[in-house]
Amino acid sequence: MFTNETYGERTYKVGEHSLRLLCSPAASTDYDLTGQIMWPAAQLLAEYLAANPSIMTGCQCALELGSGLGLPGLLCAQFCPVILTDHNEVVLRVLKKNADLNRGPHSVRCEHLDWSGDAGSYSSLLAQSPNRQGFELLLGSDVAYSLKALPSLFKAASLLLSMQPHSVFLLGYVSRAASIDRGIFLEAAAVGLRTREVPGTRKPVPGGLEGAVYEVRWAHLAQASEVDRSAAGARGRGGADRPGPSQTAVIAAATLGPLLAGLALTAFMYRQ
Ligand SMILES: C[S@@+](CC[C@H](N)C(=O)[O-])C[C@H]1O[C@@H](n2cnc3c(N)ncnc32)[C@H](O)[C@@H]1O
Repeated sequence: MFTNETYGERTYKVGEHSLRLLCSPAASTDYDLTGQIMWPAAQLLAEYLAANPSIMTGCQCALELGSGLGLPGLLCAQFCPVILTDHNEVVLRVLKKNADLNRGPHSVRCEHLDWSGDAGSYSSLLAQSPNRQGFELLLGSDVAYSLKALPSLFKAASLLLSMQPHSVFLLGYVSRAASIDRGIFLEAAAVGLRTREVPGTRKPVPGGLEGAVYEVRWAHLAQASEVDRSAAGARGRGGADRPGPSQTAVIAAATLGPLLAGLALTAFMYRQ
């Protein structure tokens, strides 16, 4: 198989930050090399992060899923340590080069992660998370691009998120099909997560489409988080005063979540 690994360097301005990234002018979708180009959802999410730095400040370590060229994750690395991940080896090579081009005050690691891997494939990443308890902040842009990808994407998110009330998966999303719009809410609920569109983030993107940032949190902790989010913002995300969950609790939640969500969905559909 021939893969083109010739890239051009571009500077992306996000808020007051400038990132130099190697990008391909056109990706082949045939061999899942979509990560070689910059997708509008990456810019949308990066701009949201730049406008809301308190989301990242004080975070002990963030993780990006399906990083591609890594724009949101590398912006995040200006504020806290970050692990960038992708499943494609060609994409991982350019991602590592982009990480080297943008070294900043915090550590950046690039790791292989395939969302469809078994629970064991997450253990080395979980071992790198603060206190081995999972991550407070997950990022992903244009990773919810097909119905088929959604179950494994949200399974990955549920295994990697910490069980703290403030932990959040921020998703840069471009709407291409109503079935995927709905699927995001349903597949997140199936693993115990609740999705909401962040008000004020919806806007047109190239191609006559619309994009938005979605916030995905543990359903059973989301309310607690909403109540004290302003207090958390005021004291930063240090987290030292928050007890961490055990990894068993994370896996139990990922297991129980679907069960509870399934019951809720059945009840909902029965009523229709
Ligand atoms: C549409 S691209 C988006 C890339 C980048 N996040 C952006 O917004 O520019 C989708 C990315 O997800 C990655 N990806 C797709 N399926 C994956 C899987 N099962 N596990 C991990 N990464 C995956 C691809 O390699 C690609 O980098």
